[in-house]
Amino acid sequence: MAHTLILDPSRQALAGRMSDARARTDELFSILQPEALYERPIPERHRLIFYLGHLEAFDWNLIARRAFGIEPFNAAFDKLFAFGIDPIGGGLPNEPPSDWPEAAAVRAYNQRVRAIVDECLAGGRAPLETTDVDTTFNMAIEHRLMHAETLAYLFHQLPPEAKIPAGAAPVPVLAGAPRLRDVEIPEGIATLGRGREEPGFGWDNEFERLQVRVPAFAIDSHKVTNGRFLEFVRDGGYEKRGLWSDAAWEWKSREGIERPQFWLPRDDAFFYRGMFAEAPLAMDTPVYVSHAEASAFARWSGRALPTEPQFHRAAYGTPDGGEREYPWGAEPPSDRHGNFDLRRWDPTPVGAFPGGDSAFLVSELVGNGWEWTSSVFGPFPGFRPHPDYEGYSANFFDGEHFVQKGGSPRTAACMLRRSFRNWFQPRYRYVYAGFRTAGPRG
Ligand SMILES: [Fe+2]
Repeated sequence: MAHTLILDPSRQALAGRMSDARARTDELFSILQPEALYERPIPERHRLIFYLGHLEAFDWNLIARRAFGIEPFNAAFDKLFAFGIDPIGGGLPNEPPSDWPEAAAVRAYNQRVRAIVDECLAGGRAPLETTDVDTTFNMAIEHRLMHAETLAYLFHQLPPEAKIPAGAAPVPVLAGAPRLRDVEIPEGIATLGRGREEPGFGWDNEFERLQVRVPAFAIDSHKVTNGRFLEFVRDGGYEKRGLWSDAAWEWKSREGIERPQFWLPRDDAFFYRGMFAEAPLAMDTPVYVSHAEASAFARWSGRALPTEPQFHRAAYGTPDGGEREYPWGAEPPSDRHGNFDLRRWDPTPVGAFPGGDSAFLVSELVGNGWEWTSSVFGPFPGFRPHPDYEGYSANFFDGEHFVQKGGSPRTAACMLRRSFRNWFQPRYRYVYAGFRTAGPRG
């Protein structure tokens, strides 16, 4: 007998967003040459085949198993593809490709998971009484979209011949080079996090609302570019012991690091490691570096990385003491506000999106690369782990991860909300993350 499904509008919206998120991760996998699926482009991470199964295994474990109480049809895959690796401590993984299943078997598993998850979404299955359907599906959708970004930076490290070039939105043409300034931000209140009564989805680390008084400070109008970072490199910044913390120096020396991961030395010039091709290093695009490298640059220039509350003040504060939802105001993010929402594979020149300026005229605080802060990732007062994903944030409250704010070219629009926080360990250099510097008010 055919089911007659009556979808309420909020379920319909979730179903649309889930299908859109799947299209984005499917599109991403379609840029890989088939044999590249068994590569491990970053030594500390799983082989790529893991992620092909992980997105669906996560949905299965969270939605089908936990929220709807459905019996497994492939418990081995549910477990094999359950967890990624956070590259901290321990040795590097070294299992051979043959330890992993055939891609066809993983794709068959994925199809079956999707069909059952869709039944759950469409109302064809009843959730357990304890389930908050809206939160569960939002977690699954944003988890997938986060991987759409983290997978892109894994794929980025593969050589161009492992990939099939895909299209991208055009790069806006600048009228002239933007004027790099020091922007003075007056003392004021920054509202971090979000209240539990606020509408919309948030991850556990976004709660609760936290108001912080931030003394006056000054901040770079634009992200630090490859051109500015090149001055630091040419000045011997990577060899100056005093610019680096003990742990950063030890890491840098052990790994022989002397330039950003995205730079390639070619003869006597640097090239940029683009997603699909190498190109001469563009001096006007943001540099992407680890927290350790960003901190060394900041020290070299007599400044510091901004704190998380300082970032909020620069991005969301207004001269009249108010606060905005986005740097540019309340309008939902669109193409005129910045380089984000998976429209491009690489950064654009700083200042190319003046429509995204904050009230204090600080440029591109959202999009074109996450921004490192000097704030250690930790809980806001009132934090409670989500019972369906207890370790999402709490596993990283170890003092070894730093907050990033903003968003990159590969960050989906839904995660550009003010309360969203990203975090990575300080010596991880593969992320689409750069920085700007801050200092005392001049
Ligand atoms: Fe994951």
